[in-house]
Amino acid sequence: MTTPSPAHGVQSVSVPRSSTEPRPDGGPATPGGKGFDLGRLLAERGAERYELHAKHLNHQLPRMLHTIGFDKFYERAEGPYFWDADGHEYLDMLAGFGVMGLGRHHPVVRKALHDVLDASLADLTRFDCQPLPGLLAERLLAHSPHLDRVFFGNSGTEAVETALKFARYATGRPRILYCAHAFHGLTTGSLSVNGEAGFRDGFAPLLPDTPVPLGDLDALAAELKKGDVAALIVEPIQGKGVHETPPGYLRAAQELLHRHKALLIADEVQTGLGRTGDFYAYQHEAGVEPDLVCVAKALSGGYVPVSATLGKEWIFKKVYTSMDRVLVHSASFGSNAQAMAAGLAVLSVMADERIVANARATGELLKSRLRALVDRYELLSDVRGRGLMIGIEFGRPTSLKLRSRWTMLQAARKGLFAQMVVVPLLQKHRILTQVSGDHLEVIKLIPPLIVGERDVDRFVTAFTAVMDDAHNGGLMWDFGKTLVKQAIANR
Ligand SMILES: Cc1ncc(COP(=O)(O)O)c(C=O)c1O
Repeated sequence: MTTPSPAHGVQSVSVPRSSTEPRPDGGPATPGGKGFDLGRLLAERGAERYELHAKHLNHQLPRMLHTIGFDKFYERAEGPYFWDADGHEYLDMLAGFGVMGLGRHHPVVRKALHDVLDASLADLTRFDCQPLPGLLAERLLAHSPHLDRVFFGNSGTEAVETALKFARYATGRPRILYCAHAFHGLTTGSLSVNGEAGFRDGFAPLLPDTPVPLGDLDALAAELKKGDVAALIVEPIQGKGVHETPPGYLRAAQELLHRHKALLIADEVQTGLGRTGDFYAYQHEAGVEPDLVCVAKALSGGYVPVSATLGKEWIFKKVYTSMDRVLVHSASFGSNAQAMAAGLAVLSVMADERIVANARATGELLKSRLRALVDRYELLSDVRGRGLMIGIEFGRPTSLKLRSRWTMLQAARKGLFAQMVVVPLLQKHRILTQVSGDHLEVIKLIPPLIVGERDVDRFVTAFTAVMDDAHNGGLMWDFGKTLVKQAIANR
């Protein structure tokens, strides 16, 4: 037995072998020893990033990045900007798929993380109650006064899995309804409520859950009549395609669900924490009080993965009915101090810097400036969304010359024109955006919520230049031909 010591490290006496020394059993030496120096490691091996990824991780990512010329060497980031190895500045309109709500390296979040590490807390003993989870739960719940309790996990999909399990257990019913085209994460439970075949194909059998068209109350009522529905899960604004639930839908759906003793789950993983100009997107509509709310992404401050499933007291009390069931739903890393500190710092910054109000005002400005372009460009068909979650949709042009080009792209694969816009936005204008889902002619803008007028100007100026190029038959159509060839080769 070893005696406790304040020093770090293994306390049994053993002679460390050098990392390159062969093992006595003849096995290979353990690589990566000789002390850890992050700076040195990055300096020595950072340039191998694409090769390493291709060799050891999902090889299709570097392949795709090389194809569209997105294979940059980003070196540094701050706020809504990052810089490549040559010092060029890029504007981030993607926010790491929404996790960078406060931009990168917000000083308050960063300090909170330094502080929590320096405090050497007795974290994750698992058999005590630490203060930070309770404090974060209290702060979070203040934004949805009709909810009482929180379960902390580690990712958006885990927040959803938790909500699905809690809804099933609390109602004693098996079936979850979800909306066509929904995205709720990619673990098996969340995948069962995913509205896209592309994600589901090949992973069957999934849970026997049922899609309903977004906004269709009759379809919802018909399913509820069967008496086996635990809940409807819905994104108040769908991430795929940036589609809002129609006005009045959430309230009416809630009434229907409750009449049939089923629950409303709001998936606010992407839309929550100010993204849409309200703290939660469901709050846009008066009288909506979901039974369970899923939160993740931006609560992390962009640093520490974290999720929260907020719910009503009776649901939690039902799941955790007795002491025997205390761990019936739990996670090893759930409520860890770093994640809790990041979450608390994020909520504090959101209040101090009026992040929600900025998202609303800057989002309005960006949307109105983009909407003004719809009449100018025949390839631009719609600009929609709320706050800083904006969809720009392209559509079939009217003029003959453009129409033939559009048709050529559409015949090869839907979504290629949107890709043709995303590429020069990055290559020529150094602005990172994304196509809002496979086979969609929609670009989604979800920048950090701290962007301002200068960033709006920069985006609109760049977007206008790209649209001018598209309408003048510019060089980007040559790239379109490359995309067409690629799409045909991939069939
Ligand atoms: C609405 C929604 N729910 C759930 C998820 C899954 O989150 P994660 O990727 O953290 O598992 C996402 C991710 O994009 C999302 O947009």
